[in-house]
Amino acid sequence: MKRILSGVQPSGKPHLGNYLGAMRQHIEMQKDFECYLFIADLHALTTVRDPELMRKQTYDLAVSYLALGLDPEKTVFFRHSDLPEHTELCWILDCIIKMPFLERAHAWKDAQEKGRKETTVGLFNYPVLQAADILLYQPDLVPVGQDQKQHVEMTRDIAITFNNIFGEVFKLPEPFIKEEVAVVPGTDSQKMSKSYGNTIDIFAEESELKKQVMSIVTDSTPLEKPKDPGKCNVFKLYKLIADKKSVKDLEQKYRKGGFGYGDAKKLLLKTILNHFADARERYKELTPKKKLIHEILENGAKIAKKVAAETLEKVKKKVGYR
Ligand code: ADP
Ligand code: TRP
Repeated sequence: MKRILSGVQPSGKPHLGNYLGAMRQHIEMQKDFECYLFIADLHALTTVRDPELMRKQTYDLAVSYLALGLDPEKTVFFRHSDLPEHTELCWILDCIIKMPFLERAHAWKDAQEKGRKETTVGLFNYPVLQAADILLYQPDLVPVGQDQKQHVEMTRDIAITFNNIFGEVFKLPEPFIKEEVAVVPGTDSQKMSKSYGNTIDIFAEESELKKQVMSIVTDSTPLEKPKDPGKCNVFKLYKLIADKKSVKDLEQKYRKGGFGYGDAKKLLLKTILNHFADARERYKELTPKKKLIHEILENGAKIAKKVAAETLEKVKKKVGYR
């Protein structure tokens, strides 16, 4: 059975882009793959400065995955910071990676362009920690959204560098990116992202969710005129979660005219609420079950540790620590 591994930062409420681009694949793949999934709270420290927020967001993300259908019997589900192996391997890899290699990372370049003098060493080193996360588990595939492609490619380069210097240890992972949901647009049509404030949050209160959907930017074609569904953000999002027949119906309504963007938004909201009805219910049920959630993560960490420690032992032998 092929193995997959992925991680998600606990950096805010999960949105439709996170769900369609990554979380849904993580959950669907548990049927056919050996799955490892973790909450990347070590990476989140590059931005989160409030310990209460770190705890809350980590907990919320765990509840969100479980509510969406992650089965802890099938997926090894754990928290990054429970395993010192990640930072240990990160240091070893740090010692063989050259500075210009990391300077090419999109996230680092963006941070520089925005003139953030405040950028940290942790942010610069982010791709190496991510490489350590991946390589410890020797996965075949890393399911992520398009924005993470470069990080997986860098991981392959880092693995090749290590294997060349010290001898074969690491398997080269492949990114697994679903074309149609590689970049889910946000309410303002750029990529949906917590950092752009253009998200549709799948577990938000209904009134908040409504506000987000109603704020999707559309053009000014009057209600009675025919509209091009391909150019409309509401339609693009609808297409990603509605069934084929409903998508066809909406497409016809757009082309015919006499159907406004406001109507399309209401339909999208209804479809989102329907799609996530069970998950939203489970989210409410699971949220107070602190003991259960912590047990699931602790148990996941124990299983993950066996795999991670085994790879780290091989690395330590190769570099001469054993
Ligand atoms: P954000 O950009 O909101 O901070 P994260 O960086 O936490 O999102 O991403 C978590 C996962 O969700 C990653 O695998 C990422 O590729 C995926 N993802 C995030 N936003 C989108 C999007 N708009 N479309 C597709 N996938 C996305
Ligand atoms: N950088 C990823 C993100 O922002 C999170 C992440 C950390 C990750 N380590 C990983 C994803 C390992 C895949 C594999 O979404």
